Amino acid sequence: MKNLLFIFFCPLIFLYAQQEKKVEDMLFQLTNEEKITMCHAQSKFTSPGVPRLGIPELSMSDGPHGIRPEINWDDWGYANWTNDYVTAFPALTCLAATFNPDLSMDYGISIGEEARYRKKDILLGPGVNIYRTPLNGRNFEYMGEDPYLASELVVPYVKGVQKNGVAACVKHYALNNQEQWRGHINVEVSDRALHEIYLPAFKAAVKQGNAWAIMGSYNKFRGQHCCHNDLLLNKILKKSWGFDGVVISDWGGVHNTDEAIHNGLDIEMGTPSDRSHSKRYPYNSNFLGNPFLKKIIEGDVEESILDDKVRRILRLMMRTSLNKDRPFGSINSKQHYETAYKIASEGVVLLKNAENFLPLDKSKQIKIAIIGENAEKSMSVGGGSSELKPDKEISPLFGIKKEFKNAVIKYAKGYSSNPDEDHDDLRKEALTIVKESDVVLFIGGLNKNNFQDSEANDRKNYQLPYGQPKLINEISKHNKNIAVILISGNAVKTDWKTNVKSILQTWYLGSEAGNAIASILSGEINPSGKLPFTFPESLTDNGAHYFGKLSYPGDGESQYYKEDILVGYRWHDTKNIKPSFSFGHGLSYTSFELTDINSNKKNYSTNETIKISCNVKNTGEFEGKEVVQVYIGKVKSKVNRAKKELRGFKKVFVKVNKSEKTEIEIPVKNLAYYNEIESDWEIEKGDYIIYVGNASNNILDKIIITIT
Ligand code: GLC
Repeated sequence: MKNLLFIFFCPLIFLYAQQEKKVEDMLFQLTNEEKITMCHAQSKFTSPGVPRLGIPELSMSDGPHGIRPEINWDDWGYANWTNDYVTAFPALTCLAATFNPDLSMDYGISIGEEARYRKKDILLGPGVNIYRTPLNGRNFEYMGEDPYLASELVVPYVKGVQKNGVAACVKHYALNNQEQWRGHINVEVSDRALHEIYLPAFKAAVKQGNAWAIMGSYNKFRGQHCCHNDLLLNKILKKSWGFDGVVISDWGGVHNTDEAIHNGLDIEMGTPSDRSHSKRYPYNSNFLGNPFLKKIIEGDVEESILDDKVRRILRLMMRTSLNKDRPFGSINSKQHYETAYKIASEGVVLLKNAENFLPLDKSKQIKIAIIGENAEKSMSVGGGSSELKPDKEISPLFGIKKEFKNAVIKYAKGYSSNPDEDHDDLRKEALTIVKESDVVLFIGGLNKNNFQDSEANDRKNYQLPYGQPKLINEISKHNKNIAVILISGNAVKTDWKTNVKSILQTWYLGSEAGNAIASILSGEINPSGKLPFTFPESLTDNGAHYFGKLSYPGDGESQYYKEDILVGYRWHDTKNIKPSFSFGHGLSYTSFELTDINSNKKNYSTNETIKISCNVKNTGEFEGKEVVQVYIGKVKSKVNRAKKELRGFKKVFVKVNKSEKTEIEIPVKNLAYYNEIESDWEIEKGDYIIYVGNASNNILDKIIITIT
């Protein structure tokens, strides 16, 4: 066996050694001036190469959901090119809701092909900041509230992107869990919560995903900006995790030359240029520009520190811009739209479905009233740096009309995000068509406007905006057959939910949005999404808000994560606070039975793997997919712990009246908690409860095991 491993790994080791030799050869030829220029921007989204040696510059682009329209060389304006129309992939909350790592690989490959085709060497994504509060403006760009789910999904995405010779730049490292005061807010959080909740997805991206780049975040942690934070970048990322890639600052996230030099930053981006300083090299005034060069020349800084930065940059170039074997990419292809559609339709979550109201029979001539601005609003624009210029974007209204050709469909906006519109007229118009229809599809939610799921600002409250709750309740007085289709990247207050029969959580779904929503409504696709975050009944039921302003959003200087490790369902479970909809919840048009739930053993040593098996039987009338979820909690722990934590999941397809055996493996080492006294992970011996179900609030069996 050892020989086999050696034969497998030997070529890889040889290739890595060859690459490293080339890096050293190039490094040796560079002047200090050339090295310094590589450590900062030369434009909004490029950093320089070395023209003298034919080393190409590095080109970067947002974002996590698709390749952002071309930005001007030296300002934030759009260049209005005509070749930068792209595929808009679903937001990463949708990907998380699929609970399907295979789709995450498809996502990474497809978006990486589009980045490659657009000649981008670094994709500024994915984002994996943990969902701590439903008000965070950028939660739609991330993968939910659970570190294990985010870890399982970020790894294939990163690998898929990098198969194209494009670096994934995982962001925003770390603790960027709100947009309010994002540029300076100082986060104070325990080591346990840092290592158990906020870092795991970044660690997985580096150690399992082999990410080639990481983006520092704007905020501070324990008083130091994260773009040059010694603990996060030098001690944890580079030393403990062995990260051999490049740390890139968030745009304008650098504030101090000495810290940027010594605390692990490799490329400074987004600091403004200064053409008064130099027309030819306006970015040389950056913190890692001339001030850095001066310190090198005067011997105040070891050249080895500069060489380490440049070595990492050259290594990233060998993997991307200098990689002559990388593929050519593709854009707006049939495959990419199929990928976008698969992820969109598999990420939609059926939250409620009273009387099996959905799916609607598309063969019948039913009268459908479609109400809501989100039925026709483009959701690929707005939201900040993740916005896109899609070559195609199917609106819900268009998709539903296409799917329900036999129906009589009338549309009314009902409400508007534009305060100048006459809301009473809109309301009356909606009620008129509601009264004469068989079915009402209310398509609302948030919309990526400012304060409504957008970068640089958080939501101001938990409610659905623009008077939607009142309109939903009023509609229900005239027509009980209502399905609400929520388009959002965050939980919203659902105190109107008793007045409607069905609720779909349908994310920002991108180019194929309307087709995916229509397929779910007609039953062409059986929904199989599960919530990647909790819907609290009210904001103060959420752990981040329970402790008041110092916890969220802070006092303008600092904030304290007082809920500590109890984020999301961990809080609700442990404090016994029933949410409106739970993490991992998602209904189907069919029904499943989980039986024969077993573990392979009852006693495990710390280096073993727990194997949980169960049968998933489809007892309904639709074929479909179910997500078996395994949570584990320690009995009588010596430290404070959540009642249970997600430690394994598997999505399984089951035909009608068939059963599928499912097995989930959980290494015992994954049960460790972070011992703050030892500053290391510790596996507690003793009893654990294994909870197996299809949602965090729907546990079908428990198994007691013992770690000896
Ligand atoms: C923005 C965002 C970051 C983005 C970068 C470049 O401020 O925080 O996610 O990649 O700047 O647009």
